[in-house]
Amino acid sequence: MNGARISRAVSEARLWQRHVEMGAIGATARGGVNRLALTREDAAAQRKLAQWAELRGYSVSRDEIGNVYVRRAGTDAEAAPVLTGSHLDSQPTGGKYDGAYGVLAGFEVLEALDDAGIATRRPVEAVAWMNEEGSRYIPGAMGSGVLAGAFTLASALARTDSDGVTVAAALAEVERSTPLPRRSLSGLRPFAYVEAHIEQGPLLEAHGASIGVVTGIQGIRRFVVEIDGEEAHAGTTPRASRRDAMATAVALISALQAEAADPGDILRFTVGRMRVSPNSPNTIPGHVDFTIDLRHPDADLLQSFGAAIHDMAARVAARHNCTAAVQNVSDVKPVRFPDDMIALIREATEAEGAKYLSFPSGAGHDAMYLNRLCPTGMVFVPCLRGVSHNEAESATPADLAAGTRVLARAIVELANRR
Ligand code: HGY
Ligand code: MN
Ligand code: MN
Repeated sequence: MNGARISRAVSEARLWQRHVEMGAIGATARGGVNRLALTREDAAAQRKLAQWAELRGYSVSRDEIGNVYVRRAGTDAEAAPVLTGSHLDSQPTGGKYDGAYGVLAGFEVLEALDDAGIATRRPVEAVAWMNEEGSRYIPGAMGSGVLAGAFTLASALARTDSDGVTVAAALAEVERSTPLPRRSLSGLRPFAYVEAHIEQGPLLEAHGASIGVVTGIQGIRRFVVEIDGEEAHAGTTPRASRRDAMATAVALISALQAEAADPGDILRFTVGRMRVSPNSPNTIPGHVDFTIDLRHPDADLLQSFGAAIHDMAARVAARHNCTAAVQNVSDVKPVRFPDDMIALIREATEAEGAKYLSFPSGAGHDAMYLNRLCPTGMVFVPCLRGVSHNEAESATPADLAAGTRVLARAIVELANRR
């Protein structure tokens, strides 16, 4: 009964308008967004969310690592809350829906509960997790990872960006510009978590399905490789005596790419960022560091490939008379969501009469860490041609609303469970 009521109360127009307003924050000339974690743009997005929340009488708070919570009270204030949400930070050339959709869909559920006049036993909270993208600060899913105990608060606060600015300093600036009541990480034990997200891949569109009932998330390992050689003159230094960090990095990346070329095209190997020092056209680089993003559904394969990275780095560096240091900065095992959460989302989808597909997520999400704390599930909606982490990322108002109706049904069911 509540399911149908809340579904009818979800407003496609209001949800779309919120995306238009949120998408204007950090908007880029090519139609995307650039809202890196803990920047002015990220703070502005948090302020926008807090303004909307205050108009509805919801309480808003921020915890010690910068996660922002919008809470709609339940009849039992002491009951563990049902959480929903995603992230407001983006890639540098990101899309308007990656992350933002999950936060705005969660917020829409709160509003639909109000409009439908539904009181829930448990509080329901829409969350904007800090630094899910892991672009400005490595590793990603930092805010949800600290809550889940994957990283210590101190280690996360100490991470620095390319300019040497720590998370702690950037967060202090956000807290100054956008003050919110403090909430303690230690006090939060969610009852359940459901996240809505665009698929960021082509499957839903290819199958003509409007909903993804997500069964889990493939494993993700992230590495930083540091190569050290010796700076020298580009014109006078013979090849035989060079300790060229760039030549070493290129040889190592080429060898790893060849190693990663599995016949089934399942393994995902990406070098997304490289820094060269001194980065001068006529000085042989003395230092190069680069990132590796490695993903696969099989945990053992991820471990064995990670060992191969260490071995190959040592061998290739020695061949070039350089040294290599490989740091595994995050290691998230493949996640399988609980069967009853998958069933809950499937049943909500069937109640909506939507065509759906069940499959694991190729992209990482905060849900991979929430799954360590409480029963967790995800709802996907299509994005155009599966394109994401790209300013051309696009989704339709109807699909966003359809996913939000499924989310709303799941949440209202969870929020009244004992
Ligand atoms: O990298 C990811 O999978 C996520 O979109 N940040
Ligand atoms: Mn995302
Ligand atoms: Mn992303």
